[in-house]
Amino acid sequence: MRRLLPPPGAELSDEDLVAAYALPAGRSVRVDFVASLDGAITVGGRSAGLGSPGDKRVFRVLRALADAVLVGHGTAAAEGYRPVAADSAVGRLRTGLGRPVSAPVVVVSRRASLAPGDRLAVAPTVLVTCAAADPDRRAELAEAGVDVLVCGEDDVDLLLALDRLADRGLEQLVCEGGPALLTSALAAGVVDELDLTIAPALVGGEARLLDRALGAVVRPRLVQVLEEDGVLFTRYAVDR
Ligand SMILES: NC(=O)c1ccc[n+]([C@@H]2O[C@H](COP(=O)([O-])OP(=O)(O)OC[C@H]3O[C@@H](n4cnc5c(N)ncnc54)[C@H](OP(=O)(O)O)[C@@H]3O)[C@@H](O)[C@H]2O)c1
Repeated sequence: MRRLLPPPGAELSDEDLVAAYALPAGRSVRVDFVASLDGAITVGGRSAGLGSPGDKRVFRVLRALADAVLVGHGTAAAEGYRPVAADSAVGRLRTGLGRPVSAPVVVVSRRASLAPGDRLAVAPTVLVTCAAADPDRRAELAEAGVDVLVCGEDDVDLLLALDRLADRGLEQLVCEGGPALLTSALAAGVVDELDLTIAPALVGGEARLLDRALGAVVRPRLVQVLEEDGVLFTRYAVDR
């Protein structure tokens, strides 16, 4: 992998990649997505068909640098999410960086759809939901060790959720989607960065990055582009 912007450089080691995605201290929400040239974010309903070795490296680095992984329930279910394991590549990267070996997965679900018995329905998973969600389901998940955060009455209040996560020391979040959560997060003005991998593929007919219109156009600012095998790894700043 090499750098295109700022000015081109040599092959990037893991340490260089960590430096390329380093964040200043303080609260932030960065979004990690992979899309095809025509904006599709899945092939056959999963993101794997757009992946590449470089995308996996960036995914691991962003997880290693984060305090927690924020994800919508749709993505957690479609992609078979599980807790970040200590003996995984991410766990090893985190250890090398002197960070806690695991980062909690924070699932956003208005209906508290996370099923008791799901691989994620254990500590240290956090569920962000609202008061309208089934109280029995919430209690069952809490019983199983899930940290259930009720943020809002009929809908999840993302601003409140981020405050509650920060109270727990979870300040720097990598949001791994999906489109419903990203659209809500942009509409709520809580996104600071979009790290979009652009895969050289044309897919058509699948889900896109956003699942509905935004009230106002958001205009992210390009700050970095890396490239490997024709795949572009962009880093955009988003003004809140
Ligand atoms: N290419 C990529 O990088 C990438 C990344 C992520 C996902 N994906 C793909 O995207 C697809 C999933 O799309 P999706 O739109 O269903 O994803 P999603 O945003 O992860 O999930 C939608 C569900 O999450 C909950 N949710 C999301 N935003 C919420 C909010 N603001 N407040 C309350 N609940 C919220 C709701 O769950 P409840 O219904 O339980 O209330 C909602 O039905 C999958 O096919 C996945 O593979 C691709």
